[in-house]
Amino acid sequence: MAQQVPLDFLGGLRRTHTCGDLRPTDEGKHVVLMGWVHRRRDLGGVIFVHLRDREGVTQIVFRAEGDADLHAKGEMLRSEYVIAVEGFVEARSQDTINPNIPTGEVEVVAEKIWLLNTSETPPFPMEEHVDVSEDTRLKYRYIDLRRPHMQRNLMLRSRISLTVREELYRQGFLEIETPFMTKSTPEGARDFLVPSRTQPGNFYALPQSPQIFKQLLMVSGYDKYFQIVRCFRDEDLRADRQYEFTQIDLEMSFPQEEQIFETIEPLIERVCEVAGHKVKAPFPRMTYAEAMRGYGIDKPDLRLPRFWPVEDLFPADAGLTREGLPLVAIHIPNTGQLSRKERDELKEYGKERGLTVYDDPKRLERDFAEPTAKVRERSGAGENDLLILAGWRGEPKGHRPEETVFQACGQLRLYAGQKYNDRHKLLDPEDFRFLWVLDFPMFEWDEEDGRWMAAHHPFTSPNDEDIEKLESNPARCRARSYDIVLNGVELGSGSIRIHRQDVQSKVFSALGFSPEEAKMRFGFLLEALTFGAPPHGGIALGLDRLVMILAGETSIRDVIPFPKTAKGTDLMCEAPSPAGERQLRELGIQLRRQ
Ligand code: AMO
Repeated sequence: MAQQVPLDFLGGLRRTHTCGDLRPTDEGKHVVLMGWVHRRRDLGGVIFVHLRDREGVTQIVFRAEGDADLHAKGEMLRSEYVIAVEGFVEARSQDTINPNIPTGEVEVVAEKIWLLNTSETPPFPMEEHVDVSEDTRLKYRYIDLRRPHMQRNLMLRSRISLTVREELYRQGFLEIETPFMTKSTPEGARDFLVPSRTQPGNFYALPQSPQIFKQLLMVSGYDKYFQIVRCFRDEDLRADRQYEFTQIDLEMSFPQEEQIFETIEPLIERVCEVAGHKVKAPFPRMTYAEAMRGYGIDKPDLRLPRFWPVEDLFPADAGLTREGLPLVAIHIPNTGQLSRKERDELKEYGKERGLTVYDDPKRLERDFAEPTAKVRERSGAGENDLLILAGWRGEPKGHRPEETVFQACGQLRLYAGQKYNDRHKLLDPEDFRFLWVLDFPMFEWDEEDGRWMAAHHPFTSPNDEDIEKLESNPARCRARSYDIVLNGVELGSGSIRIHRQDVQSKVFSALGFSPEEAKMRFGFLLEALTFGAPPHGGIALGLDRLVMILAGETSIRDVIPFPKTAKGTDLMCEAPSPAGERQLRELGIQLRRQ
């Protein structure tokens, strides 16, 4: 229990400054500060308190000789008590200046104090980085959010949102809201459903994105729409995924891909600047095919060098990879000599993904001197770099088998890069490498359901010249879609959309929807396309991911005020939780015993 202390009323008292404001130029001013007791040191005659609010920390001094009552009150203070202090600003002597805080050259000599509230001992200290489980942090999130570190993250998030709005308004965009209680909007995850009370047995779906609505807004003539909007997806949670997350969502009429990039690039430049980082557009561009051939992934991390297909350098009967499939040279700079154990680990990691890894360049040089020299030349690998080859000796796998090999090599490249990163700082978190990836395939094969799925979403336009491949060769049909990638993270995705009903119907059919099913799920969209829908396109960026990277965090939970755990639980309010009998009855819902 907190000690029994008499509390004061705030009355008409008002703050004059925040705890981050005062500087030597304020010396002599009479001020009123309010905040939380961050730390208290009692040196007998003098008590020092660090008073904290979201703007910073100011040192308050309680001197005994002046006022015994005041000093007694100072003695009662404990961590996280809420107080108001009136006093005057004094410059600190040279040897007591605290260079670690911006207000460190001054302190406030207390003349009067109001004790506004006490506090239990918090479950963890209010330090930058605390050594407690994330579960405890999430259970007491309101305390966790009080920590300067988290306050900085959320303040950065707020400034970034403002900058996004300013920039998009500057570019002539309109902010328009779209409904949360709606019908399924397919983005590849499960929907969250909301039961209807007035129409028992019927459900709204929470939107996985405003995709269909923003397209309808284009049909209605609201060129240049944007929204900073919550989206809802029932999918497995990871460090960069939450059930509820926020998108910077926009759509334009009559755009070329370039116009979307020209909209986003200055936005990113400004947002980075707000976060204290300088980046320069235009960002590099790469096709999906190039990304696969060079990185084995559709979101390349450009801080590590690309890999190189090198099967052409070796004799056809070298047997290093299966005929017709790539042999790949992966190189990671400045790793020095790896130990036998480390090389075995790499081989094992590759093997688990179907790769045969050749980890011994000396041996390769002996068996294939000239090709290996050419591999070095092509990849640019130096003597001090790790250089390995990876081939595929098993059966070809997947509808684009070369891609399966590249993907496995991409994982091996990242594994090796990340593993030796600590040693060599290859993956500097402040080195921001933005990238556009273009020309994605239209479809991906879903092994589980045994059918083609939209690689982006079903409203993405195929490349004009690939339209006939929708039926004849879906595996090779390319889409007018693009991603913006930052340091190996997919930051945003978009596409030029289908604006013609005949093309949209064809795509639904390629995705295995019968005409009836397409009509039932998306009839309103198909119909809208018949009423003068303009060519249109857009993009959505994940705001949480953007803030996460710019804040130097590795989990979006650290930039979301009240996130869910990896199991989807809100530990603080204990959601989800059972619904009452009466509520269920009103909704016409009966639970099945599991
Ligand atoms: P997409 O599904 O690629 O595209 O989503 C766009 C961006 O949203 C972010 N994102 C997420 N962030 C956190 N948690 C999640 N569960 C999550 N899912 C997605 C990512 C992603 O790049 N309607 C299309 C956009 C368009 O075509 O205009 C869409 O939603 O950063």
